[in-house]
Amino acid sequence: MREYIRVRPNGPLKGEVTISGAKNSGLKLLAATLLTKEEVTISNLPPLKDVNVMLDVLQYLGSKVERIDDTTVKIKNDNITDYITPIELMNKMRASFVVTGPLLSRFGKSITYMPGGCSIGSRPVDLHLKGFESLGAKVHIGIDAIDVDGSGGLKGAPIYLDFPSVGATENIMMAAVLAEGTTTIDNAAQEPEITDLANFLNKLGAKIRGAGTKTIEVVGVKELTGGSHTVMPDRIEAATYMVAAAMTKGDVLVKDVVAAHLIPIIAKLRENGAEVEINEDEDQIRVIGADKPKAMNIKTLPYPGLPTDVQSQFMTLLTISEGDSVVKETVFENRFMHVAELQKMRALIVTDGNEARIKGVDKLVGTDVRATDLRAGASCILAGLVAEGETRVHDTYHIYRGYYDFEKKFKDLGADLEIIKVEE
Ligand code: EPZ
Repeated sequence: MREYIRVRPNGPLKGEVTISGAKNSGLKLLAATLLTKEEVTISNLPPLKDVNVMLDVLQYLGSKVERIDDTTVKIKNDNITDYITPIELMNKMRASFVVTGPLLSRFGKSITYMPGGCSIGSRPVDLHLKGFESLGAKVHIGIDAIDVDGSGGLKGAPIYLDFPSVGATENIMMAAVLAEGTTTIDNAAQEPEITDLANFLNKLGAKIRGAGTKTIEVVGVKELTGGSHTVMPDRIEAATYMVAAAMTKGDVLVKDVVAAHLIPIIAKLRENGAEVEINEDEDQIRVIGADKPKAMNIKTLPYPGLPTDVQSQFMTLLTISEGDSVVKETVFENRFMHVAELQKMRALIVTDGNEARIKGVDKLVGTDVRATDLRAGASCILAGLVAEGETRVHDTYHIYRGYYDFEKKFKDLGADLEIIKVEE
């Protein structure tokens, strides 16, 4: 049975949407549980397919996983018997590569697999592997297996990242937690997910300072204890619904957010002409879309810059914003796969390398489009909310990976959105 998402224009989105826990933090917190033998409870996990894949990887390695409710798990890793990860599960989700650091730390050894690239780029892991070598591990790359041997024991070291890679920062931080001595990571990624992971590890007894800045210091400890942690809100999911409000000239209250994680998104929506109000506790944001959204230039950058994960959503907004806009993607080498889909809907976009020039049009026109990655898939839905006629978004599996309960969340805001099942 195949399916597609049918979207029809239905006026401005109005109402409230509650944001789920951050996928890109929850996956790493789960991997980090491998670092301790004690019981750990993690709550506000988004019940997404990728989270289930990570739980499957942990259980394959010997984790005892108890699901307390839809968004809470209790994990005990006192009986991890294997450091060889399951290739068929690892290939399902590149983020599972982040178990390498914890396994290396716990066992002094890990056998994982070269994560597949995906539509947005080759996604190498050279920075991760260089970091492990700096800690004294030996890396051997087979046909697709990566054997990281730290059986001589890991020793803290100064590490410089050529690029502030989120995954490399997380993997190396977790490899350093039980190493002997102190590790510094310079030019580290500063994304809030890094801080969420460091806060979690410090609760378990790790000694990490500077997470969220360019320099992270990890003082190795003998072992970690147990504890519990609540996953931070998903800033990219929040940004997606905020842009949807701006697209439809709507009035939407986004709840359970951390406004400080959304500063570039708030600034750019205001530049586009939207009204954006933050409540006193800075955990709710109201977005009122402009009658005439205005063209603007956007450039994606590592945090605290505008996140690459909101680039396709903002580009969709710019296709119906009055005037000429320029979008520059500096994080991934091929993150314009959504351009062709928007062009099918009569958007006026010309790309040249990692730059896209957009001329705002009065109307997009609905047609058949496909999700090329999870954020591009969400952008097809946003386009369908305002396009004339019916938009049918195919390859919906991408969207389920990053947007928990998106069908209900959009419908509760008044969107005319249905999941249509089709006999093959
Ligand atoms: C994380 O991917 C996120 N995924 C991505 O979100 C996000 O787009 C990205 O960070 C940037 O913010 C998860 O957290 C699961 P990177 P990651 O390592 O860690 C290059 C989504 O939509 N690089 O910061 O893989 C790499 O090729 C996903 O939720 C190297 O060259 O991102 C890319 O061009 C998509 N060598 C750039 O760095 C390396 O060893 C950023 O990659 C590692 C990365």
